[in-house]
Amino acid sequence: MNEKLTIALTKGRILKETLPLLARAGIESLEDISSSRKLVFETNRHDVQLVILRGTDVPTYVSHGAADMGVVGKDVLMEQGAEGLYEPLDLGIARCSLMTAGPVGWQSNGARIRVATKFVNIAREYFASQGVHVDLIKLYGALELAPIMNLADLIVDIVDTGNTLRANGMEPLQSIATISSRLVVNKAAMRSRYAVITQIIDELTAVLQEGGDAAT
Ligand code: PRP
Repeated sequence: MNEKLTIALTKGRILKETLPLLARAGIESLEDISSSRKLVFETNRHDVQLVILRGTDVPTYVSHGAADMGVVGKDVLMEQGAEGLYEPLDLGIARCSLMTAGPVGWQSNGARIRVATKFVNIAREYFASQGVHVDLIKLYGALELAPIMNLADLIVDIVDTGNTLRANGMEPLQSIATISSRLVVNKAAMRSRYAVITQIIDELTAVLQEGGDAAT
């Protein structure tokens, strides 16, 4: 077993907001992560290392115990489930909404609605809860293209500024969930590495309570 406590971080926008939080909690990479192609980073704490992953892979690493802790969007946890994970902290970063969206002025013509999304499990559950039968089409990105190309009528996607929707002639419709990034912890690691993990959770909790730039 790796002696160091490993924290799996989600690359991209979430990473940019996670690093200042971790720094305020006393954990800083020894190298500039954003300008490196490396995936594993030592930190100023000899007992903590960071690994940089796609968000969709963070729950897998943490639930298998390949990483002890992780930072991942609630959208990923909702879509994949969170088996084997504790979710002790809402970090309040990378806030956005998970929404249905459609071409501006779109109206159902009564035909079965085609919905393109990365989030097929969330979408299935949401439309079932609304009593609406839909055909789900799994895509991996650029969802806004699907209605333009008549692959789908609607999409279920993350909306932050709304700029991507607007730029593609679409508008948000219903809100499914409010999303932010969460700290997740492997359940077995929580027991075997209780002291160091709770210390990090406590530090992050204190940082969030202080508020300030890094937590907004
Ligand atoms: C996300 C999401 C939207 C966009 C929303 O895509 O899928 O396309 O951001 O942000 P906005 O409301 O501020 O325009 P991302 O950039 O993560 O790329 P993706 O298509 O690979 O998901």
